[in-house]
Amino acid sequence: MSMQPNSDASERIARIAAHLNPHNLNMEENDSCSLMGSNCRSKGGAPGFKVAILGAAGGIGQPLSMLMKINPLVSVLHLYDVVNTPGVTADISHMDTGAVVRGFLGQKQLEDALIGMDLVIIPAGVPRKPGMTRDDLFNINAGIVKTLCEAIAKSCPKAIVNLISNPVNSTVPIAAEVFKRAGTYDPSRLLGVTMLDVVRANTFVAEVLGLDPREVNVPVVGGHAGITILPLLSQVKPPSSFTPKEIEYLTDRIQNGGTEVVEAKAGAGSATLSMAYAAVKFADACLRALRGDAGIIECAYVDSKVTELPFFASKVRLGRGGVEEILPLGPLNDYEREGLEKAKKELVVSVEKGVSFARK
Ligand SMILES: NC(=O)c1ccc[n+]([C@@H]2O[C@H](COP(=O)([O-])OP(=O)(O)OC[C@H]3O[C@@H](n4cnc5c(N)ncnc54)[C@H](O)[C@@H]3O)[C@@H](O)[C@H]2O)c1
Repeated sequence: MSMQPNSDASERIARIAAHLNPHNLNMEENDSCSLMGSNCRSKGGAPGFKVAILGAAGGIGQPLSMLMKINPLVSVLHLYDVVNTPGVTADISHMDTGAVVRGFLGQKQLEDALIGMDLVIIPAGVPRKPGMTRDDLFNINAGIVKTLCEAIAKSCPKAIVNLISNPVNSTVPIAAEVFKRAGTYDPSRLLGVTMLDVVRANTFVAEVLGLDPREVNVPVVGGHAGITILPLLSQVKPPSSFTPKEIEYLTDRIQNGGTEVVEAKAGAGSATLSMAYAAVKFADACLRALRGDAGIIECAYVDSKVTELPFFASKVRLGRGGVEEILPLGPLNDYEREGLEKAKKELVVSVEKGVSFARK
């Protein structure tokens, strides 16, 4: 690549100034002539998608940011949080992968962080401590999600949104209400991330069957909290049968996998590393679908007509426009039908809670 000494200079300087600290975090305004190691960057080359992570400095946000920096489908990675993004961004920007990383700190920089994004992943908010349910997080996280979604509606209304912040059963309806109010709501672009439930189900079922977890696929439907997490063990691939005892054990472990981690971490938070893995698995599926790959099917909590509830997690087919088809639940056995009825009772309350918060 040849450098033209004069004509590229201003572009280069603009790039340098935009790096890491887009506005004023640590850098002097007029230091663009001092080409120091800390503010130079290579020309992120690879064509790809622009992805923002909101809550990027958190327990999930940091490993998620690292894994997205490795993802070859990502060309630009924006890291936003209310704390610590300069450090996380500086750190991750040293990785010699294609994506260009930029950090954004605090609400003033939120809209800039979102301009032009194709995909926005939201792990912002407080996690559980032992003894808490996901619903106990509602009071804090509902407001955070509302603020972030208002900015998305302004800066990148066409982006696909992957919402991780709990309680997902309520935060997705909140996001939908915010987008409706802004006139930007496209149900196919808003996805609650339930991938961790699928990841756990695949792992635990593989343990019971003595298989490699990569060979196992368990659909998990309903929602993302306690009994609303409904693994469909009758539809496991490869086709498998379980004893009633195994079904009890697996259903309980999958529904309470999050609590297992919360208790093991003993006050230091909830699942972060497995969640970052699951979030990247899901985001990668969304990006491959955006690119035009066919046949991408994942479980997600979305605006849905699969049941009488307005939101429900089930298998969806992803495409260039986000959710292109919501697949039917398929045949359920008696145990699953019973579980579904219980899940729906709780879900209806969580959805209503989110909607009424957003309408306040
Ligand atoms: N969907 C799932 O399967 C799943 C799994 C695990 C955790 N979670 C949820 O993900 C969320 C994050 O968990 P964590 O362990 O990373 O928590 P954490 O406390 O480690 O990190 C949260 C981050 O969000 C940031 N934040 C707070 N307010 C913000 C705002 N207004 N804008 C931007 N960022 C903000 C914090 O500064 C922090 O860096 C929690 O709500 C948790 O319950 C979801």
